Amino acid sequence: MEFKEVLLTRRSVRSFSDKPVSSELVRDLLKLAVEAPSSQGKEPWLFGIVQDAELLSEISEGTKAFMLDRIQSVPDLEVYRGFFTDPTTDIFYHGKTLVMILASQDSRSADVDCALAASGLMLSAREKGIGSCWMGFGQIYCNQPSVKEKLGIDQGLKIVAPIILGYPAVEFTTKERKDPKILFWKE
Ligand SMILES: Cc1cc2nc3c(=O)[nH]c(=O)nc-3n(C[C@H](O)[C@H](O)[C@H](O)COP(=O)(O)O)c2cc1C
Repeated sequence: MEFKEVLLTRRSVRSFSDKPVSSELVRDLLKLAVEAPSSQGKEPWLFGIVQDAELLSEISEGTKAFMLDRIQSVPDLEVYRGFFTDPTTDIFYHGKTLVMILASQDSRSADVDCALAASGLMLSAREKGIGSCWMGFGQIYCNQPSVKEKLGIDQGLKIVAPIILGYPAVEFTTKERKDPKILFWKE
């Protein structure tokens, strides 16, 4: 598959089939993710994988309750009230493999570096026919000190990118983007 096709058809996938992503494939994706550039070549990323269905469900339910609570103080989350209150909502869309990319804090650019690794991971997943979606709500929840403790994550680490992976139950499609807004181009 040409790179351009990978780029144009990488979509946030929100419907997954039951087929599990093998450990071998997850390892392949991690090897590709760490090809990302990083400030001073520090490679400040760490990875945590969750394939335990019970734990994924606990994180999903915890996230829903936590985000519902946050709606009081963050009104623009109101649009998600139905999503968070619906008992059938799984924030992971029934994806069965969660890859967390965590930043060690010994580099000032760790968050950016981890986001670049996440991008590489998602594009590589697409190339292998695996769908991905960045779990922003889960990220906020999992960074709570009590949740980190439960997950056995050192408090000094920051979860930058929780990415759910799975074989999509939908087609990979293109999606229209706005034209790039060029603010300046000095010649
Ligand atoms: C930082 C970040 C957080 C995101 N959080 C969520 C999320 O919690 N749930 C979700 O379904 N999609 C989430 N997304 C996916 C975006 O909604 C998606 O990338 C955007 O709508 C563009 O669609 P595309 O990825 O298919 O091109 C997140 C994406 C990013 C980059």
